[in-house]
Amino acid sequence: MVTSRRVLVLNGPNLNLLGKRQPEIYGHETLDDVEAQCRGVADKLELTLDFRQSNAEHELIGWLHGARETVAGIVINPAAYSHTSVAIMDALAACPCPIIEVHISNIHRREAFRHHSYVSHVATGVICGCGTQGYALALHRLAALFEKADQ
Ligand code: DQA
Repeated sequence: MVTSRRVLVLNGPNLNLLGKRQPEIYGHETLDDVEAQCRGVADKLELTLDFRQSNAEHELIGWLHGARETVAGIVINPAAYSHTSVAIMDALAACPCPIIEVHISNIHRREAFRHHSYVSHVATGVICGCGTQGYALALHRLAALFEKADQ
């Protein structure tokens, strides 16, 4: 059953290394810091969070299949799979809820191969280049969409 304010926050490959990996691009905050920020925002917005990370495409897809009938919204940073994975795009397309794609860095200012995201084809909205604050912005957007849907 879809729980009305339940949100899945999904993180793709290498985001477990946040804070250690290329800090000049991704900053010094760890994924635990990002989760703590998200939980703080979710509490204020009265959202229930399921926050996950995997380096494995099949695991991310399995979680998306599970989310289809259980969550009201998805925030996803698909990381490198944004640029390669038709399978993740298809799994998201099978989710009826709003989807906000987040990238910490501005992918359009980086290498050409990062300029295209398969996930953007099925995302409701895209936030990039706002650092880790992008996750909080995405949660605010979902909360606003839930409010609109309730009216
Ligand atoms: C990223 C951008 C991707 O191009 C990259 O592969 C990542 C992180 C970001 O958050 O800026 O791993 O999604």
